[in-house]
Amino acid sequence: MVQASTQTRAVTDVDSDAVVVTAFEDGFSPAAQEVDRALDGLLTEMRDGKELSGKFAERTVIHTLGRMPSKRVMVLGLGKPKQLDTYRLHNAFWFAGAALRKQGAHSVSAYVDGAVVDAIHGRNGESAAALPDTVHAVATGLALGNYQGDSNKSEKKDNGPGIESIAVGGLDGRPGVDEALRQAVILAEATNTVRAWAAAPSNQLTPTLLAEAAQKLFAGTGLEVEVLDKAALQREKAGALLGVAQGSDEPPVMIAVRWDGGAPDGPRLALVGKGITFDTGGISIKPSAGMETMKFDMGGGAAVLGAMWAISQLKPKANVIGVVPATENMPSGHAYKPGDVLTSMSGKTIEVLNTDAEGRIILADGIEWAKRMGATHIVDVATLTGAIVVALGHVNTGMFTNDEDFAAMVARASRRGGDRVAPMPMHPEYDVALTSEVADMKNIGGREAGSVSAAVFLREFAGELPWVHLDIAGTVWNDQGDLTVVPKGPSGTPVRTFVHLAFEFAKQ
Ligand code: BES
Ligand code: ZN
Ligand code: ZN
Repeated sequence: MVQASTQTRAVTDVDSDAVVVTAFEDGFSPAAQEVDRALDGLLTEMRDGKELSGKFAERTVIHTLGRMPSKRVMVLGLGKPKQLDTYRLHNAFWFAGAALRKQGAHSVSAYVDGAVVDAIHGRNGESAAALPDTVHAVATGLALGNYQGDSNKSEKKDNGPGIESIAVGGLDGRPGVDEALRQAVILAEATNTVRAWAAAPSNQLTPTLLAEAAQKLFAGTGLEVEVLDKAALQREKAGALLGVAQGSDEPPVMIAVRWDGGAPDGPRLALVGKGITFDTGGISIKPSAGMETMKFDMGGGAAVLGAMWAISQLKPKANVIGVVPATENMPSGHAYKPGDVLTSMSGKTIEVLNTDAEGRIILADGIEWAKRMGATHIVDVATLTGAIVVALGHVNTGMFTNDEDFAAMVARASRRGGDRVAPMPMHPEYDVALTSEVADMKNIGGREAGSVSAAVFLREFAGELPWVHLDIAGTVWNDQGDLTVVPKGPSGTPVRTFVHLAFEFAKQ
């Protein structure tokens, strides 16, 4: 794991492989001004020559040629202070970390200042959280730059160990920085684990291998892990998960993890994540173009497991359970077919009209299992619908709920964690879309509002419990990068939201 500490030395005294200082569009930070002075006005000259503007995520690397102990300085643009939220701060430092890692930097000192903390405070509205949220965004962002995603190349490039130590300066004297840094490193480690799992090819991460990876991750953490294999799922009558799994030669599993950090009779938060290790669409098969991306269809499940690991390290005084139903969705001679009726673990029956709407089906059993484990509140997370990608692109996760107070809590956790969620509607007029002639519900609605009908389906299984559904089909992976400045590849979202949510529960 990366080492993170407070940097107490001035930017012109510190000897790191690289130093990061920030600039807004309306001016240099105090640390950038110190660098400017040490380099005889170089930054000012570059700004006057329009080579340095402070626009968001601009990265300007300057060699100090012995005039400062550190070899390189990166001036990182943070854009407009009014637009700076944890998401943008985190993404800017993520870009910075990735660039510095590629240049071979092992030790990085990053300087932020009161103006950045104030900007975050302005957006998040919580004064006590502004400092830790800022420190998390900076240190976690930099550490995410260590993720490389080339583990399957037979010829390893010698990239060295990546960024090994991060020091955050410019905030000296403020209490809480060290504790925030300790947390940031764990959040980054969890996020990078989730990213690696989402990127893993499906032949290297089958449901069985995912369960093994989870058991390995949780070994020695004190967290209880239960893996329900196919026989156990048959005993529990998990007909929804087993129905989807029918077409695959890989057996399904349900991974269940439990963290009892709160009062035994207190609230119990359940995180339920879609674990489709590959989604071909089944008999309602997907077109071949782009099908390879469906290796990330377990990204929700990965985020749940990553969050549970971070929770085991950070130990919030809250009760949290993680549930991941996992299977492939394959066509074959024994695959489930359109028109089939499945009886879910809850007893509710599902008419399958499209085998590609499989995520909601397996989540039905995941949600029921979470209830049996004593959930009082449920958040499910899934790469559920292509329609949410059309609606929100790669920038926002779609959030659906049956309980506005609970959704507000999740939204607050996401703001703190540097994930973005946008509320989506669930008015009763959308409900009729799932009425089936032959079963309790059909698994698809019409062509319109596809993300909402998927949410309506899930809500029926949550029943009376406060429930939030996060559709991460667009945010799990950014492959466009043309809508706005978002780092490409797997994001790990919403693992940090979940960890913050657990801490919110600890306050109850
Ligand atoms: N895993 C997909 C959703 C998806 C699409 C995720 C694109 C990420 C990017 C899901 O299982 C699916 O296939 N959904 C269908 C539902 C439809 C058949 C009602 C979809 O969105 O097309
Ligand atoms: Zn599908
Ligand atoms: Zn899917």
